[in-house]
Amino acid sequence: MLAPKPRVIVLAASKGGSGKTSLTASLAVRAMKDGARVALVDAEPQKSLTLWWSLRGKPGNPFLHAYSGDPVEDADALKAEGYQWIFIDTVPAMVEHIERAIEAADLVIIPTRVSAFDLVAARAVVGFCKLHGEPFAFVLNATDPKWKKGIQSAIAMLKKLGPVVPKSIRHRTVYASAITAGKTGPEARDTKEAKGAADEIGAVWTTIRKMASAAVRAK
Ligand SMILES: Nc1ncnc2c1ncn2[C@@H]1O[C@H](COP(=O)(O)OP(=O)(O)O)[C@@H](O)[C@H]1O
Ligand SMILES: [Mg+2]
Repeated sequence: MLAPKPRVIVLAASKGGSGKTSLTASLAVRAMKDGARVALVDAEPQKSLTLWWSLRGKPGNPFLHAYSGDPVEDADALKAEGYQWIFIDTVPAMVEHIERAIEAADLVIIPTRVSAFDLVAARAVVGFCKLHGEPFAFVLNATDPKWKKGIQSAIAMLKKLGPVVPKSIRHRTVYASAITAGKTGPEARDTKEAKGAADEIGAVWTTIRKMASAAVRAK
């Protein structure tokens, strides 16, 4: 299915290690499966997404745009070039540093782990999204299904702050191992875990696609 209008998804969280880069890669690869033109912007100084992209090589790799230092400018340039989905990965830092990326977004995705530190850090990004009137949603990442109570209370807490994507992403070694080979969880060699990853990334993508499309229509 082709996206008629460009949509910009920004992955943001003031906490490092919440899954921004992994999720950017998985979602971008998933978006390509719809036949859409997909571009990446790596606005993170450690350039983890760029490293993943280099390892991936061709084919089936989204276009990587050279980051100019201004996410708004980069998103506009990619829109003008006809990219339909633009993913921007950001630095885990003080929110001031990601404010411009949030401005560029049609939808901000905030990956969050089931940890008190992540949950507290989530508030800062939400504040900025609200300030700029940018739609956002949480994705609970790296969950351990054995800790049902933790997951439930994290979801309840996040729901007070804003929308939570209904499908959570489980903790799976394939997410970590695939990235180091330029792949994504759903493309991992371990077929059982890859299938589990594909199902959850697919479900998360369906929600994000709908939310981003609704956000663009509402503009
Ligand atoms: N769902 C997951 N299951 C297992 N490991 C994960 C998952 N998501 C992320 N990781 C691992 O956690 C670490 C941090 O993820 P990363 O995407 O780099 O986060 P961020 O970009 O927010 O700093 C990486 O080593 C990554 O492989
Ligand atoms: Mg990162």
